[in-house]
Amino acid sequence: MALLEMRGIRKRFGGVEALRGVDLALEAGEIHALVGENGAGKSTLMKVLSGALQPDAGEVELDGRPLRPRNVAEAQRAGVVMVYQELNLVPELTVAENLALGHLPVVVRYGRLYEAARALLGKMALELPPDAKVSSLGAGAQQLVAVARAFAQRAKVMVFDEPTATLSAGEVDQLFGLIRRLRTEGVAVAYISHRLEEIFELADRVTVLRDGERVATTGVGELTPARVVALMVGREVRAYQRPAHPAGEVLGTFEVQAPRLAPLSLALRRGEIVGLAGVVGSGRSEALEAMFGLRGRALWRGEPIGRPIDALRRRVFLVPADRKAQGLVLELAARENVVLSILPTLERLGVVVRARERRVVEEWFQRLSVRPPDPERLARTFSGGNQQKLVLAKGLATAPEVLLLEEPTRGVDVATRYEVYALLDDLARGGLGLVVSSSDTEELCGLCDRVLVFRGGRVVAELTAPLRREEVVARVTGAVA
Ligand SMILES: Nc1ncnc2c1ncn2[C@@H]1O[C@H](COP(=O)(O)OP(=O)(O)OP(=O)(O)O)[C@@H](O)[C@H]1O
Ligand SMILES: [Mg+2]
Repeated sequence: MALLEMRGIRKRFGGVEALRGVDLALEAGEIHALVGENGAGKSTLMKVLSGALQPDAGEVELDGRPLRPRNVAEAQRAGVVMVYQELNLVPELTVAENLALGHLPVVVRYGRLYEAARALLGKMALELPPDAKVSSLGAGAQQLVAVARAFAQRAKVMVFDEPTATLSAGEVDQLFGLIRRLRTEGVAVAYISHRLEEIFELADRVTVLRDGERVATTGVGELTPARVVALMVGREVRAYQRPAHPAGEVLGTFEVQAPRLAPLSLALRRGEIVGLAGVVGSGRSEALEAMFGLRGRALWRGEPIGRPIDALRRRVFLVPADRKAQGLVLELAARENVVLSILPTLERLGVVVRARERRVVEEWFQRLSVRPPDPERLARTFSGGNQQKLVLAKGLATAPEVLLLEEPTRGVDVATRYEVYALLDDLARGGLGLVVSSSDTEELCGLCDRVLVFRGGRVVAELTAPLRREEVVARVTGAVA
């Protein structure tokens, strides 16, 4: 018998049937991947499991006993933990103190506290200083502490929902090491990701959800990436390749100066999509942010961009990677988010001109096929991928001439990704210049006319189409200088 069994789980949000009777079994000591398109119901299923949501129907058993958590704390006490981005650590306490949280004695004996922390960190093969304040650690390290703590609290089932989205390559390696350690210790791990490489590297079994139903549960050995994609979308999807298109005239030149970045000059043509490649910290994101006035100084067509408002005035828009922190106000309606950056142009006599607002929002909802197509829903209630589309819509509503994009398809499923690429191609054909910074080399090769490769704060290579993935990877990693 499986450690954890979910049977016939149903969940409806208003008119949306997010889960239509889903079964899922997790074995002790397995890593079980959950994949599916945006909105397929992955996060909802895991929220039911971890007590964040109540199902409308269905049952859950843990160790053969019914589990009906009314909230997250109850699920945690039963041994089911979801590792959120917002992690419930106390930033002002040390790693050791955080690890002991929940069972801290009234009088803390520090010697013993550190000893216990060291033992636990050693067991999990984590190289973290027990006496460091959590607030001094990077996002990745903080996540590791949270996982270690859940383990210390005897979690039997641990859920990861797109945990690598904000991690560097080194941090991802550490997290994977830790997750494998959890498997050895007999924890059942559920792992959600849109990155198929991660699934094939990590998972033992894979469950595919489509439209709120389970379409398959299979050992990873019986699957190929193409097969997983076909199961997800119900048909075959080939890698994207931008169709041929004419080169336009030069739109302008960015001159970029920022700390830890060699001076950079980038002439951008209409219709062109320029890729920025490089590992985290290579300077590619820094360069992109400087073009938008978020750091350092930039000139665009000889005019200074020192702050984002300068960029917006010159019709340069940045679509950020972290849609939750920078892109969206989650507690506002989708409509309000989309028009946020164009409010000044919509407002007349201090009154937002509703009809125009509705037209703009409806246009972008349609062109991006946002689902569900209801602009009045709170941004929070859209699935991750559809939230990404809202951020894009917000940028496009400003009618930019230059669109800067950071990780434009992070958290976006393979099929929707295709739609986003087609849209970017369409925008470029309409006369925009695009700069795309991405860690996904397949994306860069399929989408871009040329790719600037960053290493150590400078551009070390400029590759032009036809782009080969092996070559980009070799340059990014420094395998080829
Ligand atoms: N709190 C909510 N209120 C209303 N609808 C919701 C809520 N949470 C999720 N939904 C809807 O339920 C469906 C499933 O969403 P869910 O977040 O589970 O998808 P997902 O598979 O995690 O997608 P993604 O890969 O984009 O994160 C979507 O249509 C979503 O819009
Ligand atoms: Mg999700």
